[in-house]
Amino acid sequence: MISLHTISFRYQPTTPWIFKDLSANYQPGSIIGIQGASGSGKTTLLYALCGVIPAMIKGDFTGEVKINNEILTNLTLPQIAPLASLLMQQPDYQLFFPTVEQEIAFGPENLCLAPAEIQARVDSALVRLSIEELRHTTSAHLSFGQKRLVTLAALLALSPQVMLLDEPLGGIHPGLYPLLAKAITQEAQKGKIIFVADHHPALLELADVRLQMEDLR
Ligand SMILES: Nc1ncnc2c1ncn2[C@@H]1O[C@H](COP(=O)(O)OP(=O)(O)O)[C@@H](O)[C@H]1O
Ligand SMILES: [Mg+2]
Repeated sequence: MISLHTISFRYQPTTPWIFKDLSANYQPGSIIGIQGASGSGKTTLLYALCGVIPAMIKGDFTGEVKINNEILTNLTLPQIAPLASLLMQQPDYQLFFPTVEQEIAFGPENLCLAPAEIQARVDSALVRLSIEELRHTTSAHLSFGQKRLVTLAALLALSPQVMLLDEPLGGIHPGLYPLLAKAITQEAQKGKIIFVADHHPALLELADVRLQMEDLR
């Protein structure tokens, strides 16, 4: 379960609250849609849900985020990763390795899983997103949409309890929307908690609950 206890954030004392006194609990299997105009704070909220705020982005943060009763501010970012991980709006910020396979293996390797389990997770993520043919491709040679699929595959392989998806359909061919929707639904059925910030009805209609950023201030 993830619980938000009266969380508030603004970048500076002189700028408006992005969210103020937000409290909520979400159970395993929930899909939460985050809606709002560009600049309304969707990305900022996702940063708070995985500890990037306040660990890396300073500002005025109060309240607590707990996942399975662990308070995120008591943990380091590497400790938080298996609990809550973010698919960033810009995939380039999340690609670090020469090949796609290495990229996807990184999360499970960090969990110190057995090599066979790591391989199984990589294979499964590639198959689920239909990108097996990219396995040995150099990450730098991928198109924007392919980079998005690879970063999503890396998230699936890491398999955190809470998945935070920041505009996952950005740059994706509409023909692939159902594939992504299916992957997200399957993760929820496995008991993951998934936050999706997006404008596209293709994903928002999967959500059990929706948060409208403009209503959170
Ligand atoms: N690092 C930052 N410093 C100051 N203001 C920021 C920073 N990042 C975002 N903002 C501001 O916070 C607001 C919310 O931004 P963001 O969370 O990116 O919105 P969205 O994801 O909905 O487009 C915007 O007004 C943006 O300009
Ligand atoms: Mg954003």
